[in-house]
Amino acid sequence: MTNELVDLAIFSGRTYPAFAEAICAHLGKKQGEADIFEFANENIFVRYQENIRSRDVFLVQPLVRPVSTSIVELLIMIDAARRASAGRITAVIPYYAYGRSDKKDQPRVPISGRLLANLIETAGADRVITMNLHAGQIQGFFNIPLDELNGLYPMSAYFASRDMTGYTVVATDVGGEKLSRDMASRLDLPLAIVEKRRLGNTDNVQALNVIGDVDGRNALLIDDEILTAGTMVEAVGILREKGAREIVLAGYHAILGGPAVQRLRDASVHEIVFTDTVPIPADKRLPNMKIIPTAPVFGDAIQRIHTGQSVGALFQ
Ligand code: R5P
Repeated sequence: MTNELVDLAIFSGRTYPAFAEAICAHLGKKQGEADIFEFANENIFVRYQENIRSRDVFLVQPLVRPVSTSIVELLIMIDAARRASAGRITAVIPYYAYGRSDKKDQPRVPISGRLLANLIETAGADRVITMNLHAGQIQGFFNIPLDELNGLYPMSAYFASRDMTGYTVVATDVGGEKLSRDMASRLDLPLAIVEKRRLGNTDNVQALNVIGDVDGRNALLIDDEILTAGTMVEAVGILREKGAREIVLAGYHAILGGPAVQRLRDASVHEIVFTDTVPIPADKRLPNMKIIPTAPVFGDAIQRIHTGQSVGALFQ
């Protein structure tokens, strides 16, 4: 541990302790100890087991299953740190929930992504670190500094180490065009886009067409999050219809709810590559699944924030 990290304290919520451990291992830093549990009435209790007065405190919690508990627990952790006189509190949120609720796109609906940002601020967070928000504009929901890290770097490094000859990078929908274009440009590959439509407010989607040429090519299909995997399998279907050969799936946040794992298994694609921003239990891991670690990127960002260096420089 370098001297400059002495006042740094990293704590984990209960949602994904292995991720905080990996960050600490990367920094050569011992994880802070906290007592976190639920009373019989499901009220959550948090107590830090060490002094955090004036310290630079980082609280790690992706907002995943059980989502509501993860959120409330993070808010209570922030409150406890504020009342313990932490010097600065950073919420480290590898996956930000409610990102898809980022606009009022029909009458009488909430903007839950904004509400969540307000809650995190009100609880007392001074800043946020996250990775690949569903839409970049969500950054603006916060009035505190937010560093949005990019899983593109570890993900593209993995693909750059393989032979990607004959591949086209394919976005699963028009909204994912930028994410896929960035990958295509890093790997020096052409880009295509699947035209998708969502059927009402359900998780059901339909792939309508492919913009770009995939006939006789391999496809690296990219999406920011995989929930039911409906988007991915619809895209796989239309890519095969249009003559694509080998297909590799890449996803940044592997939520894998409902039928996702079965759908991915049945899709019989060459490889599935996810980052580890969300815990992926053993029973959801398929033999052709590769998990790319992102904790080192978070660790480097934490170190830079703590020592007042540029986080952007990490990605240049
Ligand atoms: C939608 O806009 C997102 O980019 C993803 O395509 C979507 O969240 C994936 O969900 P699912 O796996 O349920 O199709």
